[in-house]
Amino acid sequence: MKTIEEIRGEIEQFKIDNNEALENFRLQFLSKKSDLQTLLSEIKNIPAEERKSFGQKVNVLKQQAQSFFDEQKKRLEDSVSYSRGTIDVTCPATAMEIGARHPISIVMDEVCTIFEKIGFTAVTGPDIEDDWHIFTALNFPEEHPARDMQDTFFIDQNPDIALRTHTSTLQVRTMERHQPPIRVICPGRVFRNEAITSRAHCIFHQLEGLYIDQNVSFADMKQTLMFFAKKMFGENTRIRLRPSYFPFTETSAEMDVSCNICGGKGCALCKHTGWVEILGCGMVDPNVLENCGIDSNKYTGFAFGLGIERMTMLKYKTNDIRLYFENDVRFIQQFASSAL
Ligand code: PHE
Repeated sequence: MKTIEEIRGEIEQFKIDNNEALENFRLQFLSKKSDLQTLLSEIKNIPAEERKSFGQKVNVLKQQAQSFFDEQKKRLEDSVSYSRGTIDVTCPATAMEIGARHPISIVMDEVCTIFEKIGFTAVTGPDIEDDWHIFTALNFPEEHPARDMQDTFFIDQNPDIALRTHTSTLQVRTMERHQPPIRVICPGRVFRNEAITSRAHCIFHQLEGLYIDQNVSFADMKQTLMFFAKKMFGENTRIRLRPSYFPFTETSAEMDVSCNICGGKGCALCKHTGWVEILGCGMVDPNVLENCGIDSNKYTGFAFGLGIERMTMLKYKTNDIRLYFENDVRFIQQFASSAL
């Protein structure tokens, strides 16, 4: 005869995943001929002093077996009613579309991370700005063509308010609030009233950098930007600074990186020059420092403004800027795997 413990062990091991197993369980543990029933009928033959505790144990086990049976029976019935009822559990599920990070966000984060490693702190500011922060504080003369309606989206009701045309507004906002040393990067969206083509869009993204302290030189700027270019595009990347003009920097330059699509040999993206322009930069004009309350005799600094779309096109080898704004998931999802 099996002991109580043996039967308990068997019950615990028993797997019920269909009606046949349920019936086997019933026959084995709950029917008239089951081992448990044999034990129950044995109670009367047990010596009187042990009878009570033996009887209790057998009865507890029987109750456990019964409630386990009831539970499993209900579970099987429920699953049947699901598949036969209003919900067809055998139906293929609608795929849950998981969104992907936008390539512009991926690259923006990557750029921020590189500059954060060398001590720059990210700050942001408003997309809608006033004339002072977009132009006047940045030393734009009254008649500068960038103030023209062609380039800037002004607000009809108030000609003093416009969508920012560059993130250089954040240079002003930062210097107005903080004295040097200043080392910030400013990621943001900018707007220009331009015709949309494969190379230009009326909305795009920039990352501004600003470094102000005592004795900051053009060489510091060059080293910082070279460090960035190598981290971003690989150690073999070369940079080239060309003289340029911005009202808010003196000296001003534009920086090209060697084209990583053709490796410098010449292709459509680099217009067969082997170089791609990715940023404007320069030493902050003393007038700008003074406009923002910083002593230009004591401090110098540099600023740069990077075009994120151009860098993203370079990195992912895409040739049409409009793709970044159409929000076609088939396009956007291709970059998901390269997100950190
Ligand atoms: N704001 C300039 C642009 O939008 C870029 C720039 C930033 C140039 C900082 C010099 C210094 O083209």
